[in-house]
Amino acid sequence: MQNLRWVLKLLLILSLFGQLSKSQNHETVISNCNAADRAALLSFKSKIIKDTTGILESWTGSDCCGESWEGVECNPSTGRVTALQLQKPSDSDSISDDIFMAGTLSPDLGNLQFLEVLVISGMKHITGNIPDTISNLRHLSQLVLEGNSFVGPIPSGFGRLSSLKTLMLDGNRLRGQLPTSLGNLKGLLQLNLGKNLLSGPIPPTFKNLQGLQFLDLSRNLLSGVIPEFIGQFRNLTFIELSNNRLSGPIPVSFCSLTALSDVSLSGNQLTGKIPDKIGGLKSLTSLSLSNNHLTGQIPESLASLKNLWYLNLSSNALQNPLPTSFVKGLGLPSLLSIDLSHNKLSLGTVPNWIRTRKLTAVHLAGCDLKGTLPTFITPTPLTSIDFSNNHFIGGISTFLAKMSNLQFLKISKNQLKFDVSSIVLPRGISSIDLSSNQLFGPLSAFINNHTTSFLEVIDVSRNIISGTIPEIKEGLSLKVLNIGSNRITGHIPNSISNLVELQRFDIRRNQISGTIPSSLGLLVKLQWLELSINRLTGNIPNSLLGIVNLRHANFRANRLCGEIPQGRPFNIFPVVAYAHNQCLCGKPLLPCKKEKKNPPQMGQ
Ligand SMILES: *[C@@H]1O[C@H](CO)[C@@H](O)[C@H](O)[C@H]1NC(C)=O
Ligand SMILES: *[C@@H]1O[C@H](CO)[C@@H](O)[C@H](O)[C@H]1NC(C)=O
Ligand SMILES: *[C@@H]1O[C@H](CO)[C@@H](O)[C@H](O)[C@H]1NC(C)=O
Repeated sequence: MQNLRWVLKLLLILSLFGQLSKSQNHETVISNCNAADRAALLSFKSKIIKDTTGILESWTGSDCCGESWEGVECNPSTGRVTALQLQKPSDSDSISDDIFMAGTLSPDLGNLQFLEVLVISGMKHITGNIPDTISNLRHLSQLVLEGNSFVGPIPSGFGRLSSLKTLMLDGNRLRGQLPTSLGNLKGLLQLNLGKNLLSGPIPPTFKNLQGLQFLDLSRNLLSGVIPEFIGQFRNLTFIELSNNRLSGPIPVSFCSLTALSDVSLSGNQLTGKIPDKIGGLKSLTSLSLSNNHLTGQIPESLASLKNLWYLNLSSNALQNPLPTSFVKGLGLPSLLSIDLSHNKLSLGTVPNWIRTRKLTAVHLAGCDLKGTLPTFITPTPLTSIDFSNNHFIGGISTFLAKMSNLQFLKISKNQLKFDVSSIVLPRGISSIDLSSNQLFGPLSAFINNHTTSFLEVIDVSRNIISGTIPEIKEGLSLKVLNIGSNRITGHIPNSISNLVELQRFDIRRNQISGTIPSSLGLLVKLQWLELSINRLTGNIPNSLLGIVNLRHANFRANRLCGEIPQGRPFNIFPVVAYAHNQCLCGKPLLPCKKEKKNPPQMGQ
């Protein structure tokens, strides 16, 4: 669901971009580029010490306005550079890790006097400060330096860029306060400074940014209150201030922004009530207020939001009762996704207005729900369910029966009681958390029959599941396998090495015996290995030294013996990770005694 929000945000940005860049199409007349501009570009190129995008390779020959100079655009009649747009090719994420530019930004970019558009985005490893000289580019209307590694402050000279419509510096490591001078940018339509380390308050001068349509300051360290004046930004459609340290109430003035479609204030320290006038946000489609300290009841007017499809009020201190129009099944006609988890709501049962709607996500964790799992009237569209921390009892079969699209299921910390081998999981499920219930039956049946290639997370820890860990077939995508605190017996199968994607493997507190298979060392993506409190014998195989990403390992309270693999990270894990075994030795424990009588097979 969060993903969908990001996609929508991206589309919004792209459409705004489109509007802004239409004016700069190529003309056919080509004149040679201005020598000073060419020198500035070559200076930029010289400060990029590594470029795997292939873009700068194309910068050869004297005519920087010619076809070959990728990302450079000129005014054909003057030969002056008007646009420099370097964007990482938007291929799939998997290969794009290797595509970047590394180096710093040449201050000579400030010599491109006629530059209107400067976009250097997603290059990841361009670092150093953003040069002050960019403040000299008086014609600049778009300045986009997102997704790099810039450090230091936002140059306060940017306040002189009076033609600026778009300023995006998100996804860097910029520090310091928001420059008050940015308040001079009266023509600004889009401002994105998200995902940095910016601190301090939102400056009062920002009240001049009345034309803003898009404002993203999320994921910084901003503090202070959300200023009242944001209520005057009539054209604002998108505001994202989540994951900062903002405090105080949600300003009531906010509620008069009739163009606003997307609001996220989650992950702050906001207090007080959700304003009664929230219904004034007539265009609202998405509202996230999760992870704050909001109190009181959900206001009645919220129900009147006709376009709202995403509502996330989780992790606050909101109280009963819910708005009466909710209860009557009226209101929120467009709703698709609702999250009321972890408040002070005591709902008793899943309300009918939720059970009878066509929804894609229902998260009601910690809502004091009782009885057996509910029946949804239209279960097919559901992709995400969180009913954790409630008091549900009984089985799960009827509940899951028609949820053919379910991907995410979390019903941990309830009192469910059923045989895991009888469960029929939806085919496309990718994450299932049934930990801390009273599930029983054999593990082998569950893992064999239910791990499809889509399944990435299985957590069935803290139940009373028995049986052995089955042989693992190839082709699975499991990243998390947590079967800790059950009654599982038998060995760890050699075929565990087929789980090539595994990051967390937790079998603690069972009755698992036999040796640790050396094939475990083939799981190179493993970060978390928990084997404590079992009956494992033999040594810790040296092959585990191959797991270079391991951050946590625990072998405590088994019957292991012999030398601990000597190398990182095994010899730097704390002593407790090896305590209460038969005869483990070597760093971080005491040195191994040299063999007395027995010939040298010992220890390996
Ligand atoms: C809001 O948008 C309208 C229409 O595009 C425009 O005429 C108006 O000037 C804008 N308001 C501000 C404060 O910029
Ligand atoms: C609600 O927001 C929280 C983060 O604040 C997130 O973890 C959760 O997944 C969101 N719920 C839905 C249904 O998107
Ligand atoms: C699960 O697999 C086992 C064999 O491992 C088989 O005997 C059993 O019938 C299967 N159960 C279901 C419900 O498919």
